[in-house]
Amino acid sequence: MIDPYLPQRVKIVKIKAVADDAALFTLQFEDSKVQKKYAFIQGQFAMVGIIGAGECALDICSPSDKSSKYMQVTVKQVGFLTKKLVDSKVGDILTFRGPFGNGWPNLNKLAKPNIILIAGGSGVAPIRGEIEHIISSKYFKENTVQVLCGSNEIEYLMYQDEMANWVNNDIRLGISVDRLKRATAVANAKVVKGVITQLLNGDNIDKDSTVFMVGPPAMYKPVIKKLQELGFADEDIYFSLERRMYCGIGVCQHCAVNDVYICKDGPVFNVNDLINNPDLI
Ligand SMILES: Cc1cc2nc3c(=O)[nH]c(=O)nc-3n(C[C@H](O)[C@H](O)[C@H](O)COP(=O)(O)OP(=O)(O)OC[C@H]3O[C@@H](n4cnc5c(N)ncnc54)[C@H](O)[C@@H]3O)c2cc1C
Ligand code: FES
Repeated sequence: MIDPYLPQRVKIVKIKAVADDAALFTLQFEDSKVQKKYAFIQGQFAMVGIIGAGECALDICSPSDKSSKYMQVTVKQVGFLTKKLVDSKVGDILTFRGPFGNGWPNLNKLAKPNIILIAGGSGVAPIRGEIEHIISSKYFKENTVQVLCGSNEIEYLMYQDEMANWVNNDIRLGISVDRLKRATAVANAKVVKGVITQLLNGDNIDKDSTVFMVGPPAMYKPVIKKLQELGFADEDIYFSLERRMYCGIGVCQHCAVNDVYICKDGPVFNVNDLINNPDLI
């Protein structure tokens, strides 16, 4: 196991813009022995930092089968550290601790193997790795996979260039944009004007599915309510949460919500977890 307290030096080997304000970083440990030891579960996160500037939590969004070769994270510029990260260059050294957290449930153990992935805003980043995993494992051959993405502006919708590949692999794509200025389509999916719940139209949704969702705090309650109205059972709805984090391993208490640590007990929770801790959302 890689020491969770010790930031490891990682080199930026590639940077790709994935929206107007976000970039995908491909990273490699400087120490190749550490890289070989590294493995993660989709939905886990890492603490990524710049020496002298700090660390922040970022979801790991690489394909799982490439984990011994590199790590990928998506950075959306929102403040001090994420701006410094987005301004970094190929060859720069960052720090990396992780992987941390529980990750999404194992696809092979789901009671309902059809999947709906719902991503609001920068939530597309944490589901992108799961989508790559689904495509490479041919999961969609046996099961239906739907991806529903919402963004406030079309320019901020991440991974538009990868969506054609999702659709070519039989993933059913739905997109909503709050402030849509003109009719448009992405990867042949007509973009719907409005918030993401617009995509949860009973006719288009495979209700015999497990839901994974991630997005801004305001998204969770209305989306869960809509899914419940459509007949989804609470145990089939999973969501991933973000809180300000420091240690990432259940020590500093910065991410605590009552007796639950988002970093250690999450970031992925089930709607049934809200019975004991409704303050989670
Ligand atoms: C488990 C987890 C996974 C994450 N995955 C990603 C990811 O894949 N890509 C990505 O771009 N970001 C991700 N984030 C959010 C990221 O950690 C924050 O955007 C980052 O810490 C902001 O640092 P900053 O110094 O740039 O912003 P600051 O200058 O500290 O703050 C700028 C603004 O962002 C808000 N903010 C800061 N941290 C958070 C947070 N954790 N949640 C919500 N709002 C916050 C502040 O309140 C402020 O309004 C994740 C967070 C968590 C906890
Ligand atoms: S970030 Fe320190 S306890 Fe969760």
